[in-house]
Amino acid sequence: MRHFVVIGREAKASPDFLLDDLPGTSGRLDVGLRCVRAGLLLSHGLRRDVVVYLVLGGGPRAPRVLRIRGADARFLRPDERSLAILARKALAGHEDTDATVFVERRPGIALARGGIERALADLGAARLYVLEESGDDLRRVDPLGPDAAFFLGDHTGIDGADRAKLAAQGARPLSVGPRSIHAEDAVAIVSNELDRRDAGAS
Ligand SMILES: C[S@@+](CC[C@H](N)C(=O)[O-])C[C@H]1O[C@@H](n2cnc3c(N)ncnc32)[C@H](O)[C@@H]1O
Repeated sequence: MRHFVVIGREAKASPDFLLDDLPGTSGRLDVGLRCVRAGLLLSHGLRRDVVVYLVLGGGPRAPRVLRIRGADARFLRPDERSLAILARKALAGHEDTDATVFVERRPGIALARGGIERALADLGAARLYVLEESGDDLRRVDPLGPDAAFFLGDHTGIDGADRAKLAAQGARPLSVGPRSIHAEDAVAIVSNELDRRDAGAS
């Protein structure tokens, strides 16, 4: 299994954002949604062995974690607007959404109260990695899995408190290259590396 945990420090944990101005009104939830696309969607299909967690740290209902599981998800479209509509529906409503366990809101889409500790508790025995430029070279870390979880930041990166929590859990810093790239590109590179290894490519 592959897991990606995107930490959106200001990403809205409530549905009060505008679809026509997602970057300007959602605390950059758009970054996380592009990671959902990069991590879960193939050109024609869904990766059933991938789970993406969006840690939402913005707005009055934060912190909450949205979990999108490829094994059960349906009707995931690749465009940001459709993904934003899905997120908004999952974040709406007051009943049972503040549970500290994941509550399914749509097929494959679940919500829980909490920050990265909620995602950590859900990951089981997956090996933990923190994606950062200065980490160990992805190409030289072999094997990565079989069960691996990759934590990444949004446009603001990962703060000291979350870094400390991840370090305490033994998460290994991992770099996909020498330049700071967009979060969704880092997800795409990790996915491609794992695909190549699964296919036995050198
Ligand atoms: C746009 S970057 C964050 C930039 C932010 N200003 C910072 O200093 O962390 C978004 C996320 O992508 C991941 N990332 C970006 N470049 C990377 C690289 N070369 N190797 C591994 N992860 C990377 C990191 O997890 C980062 O937090």
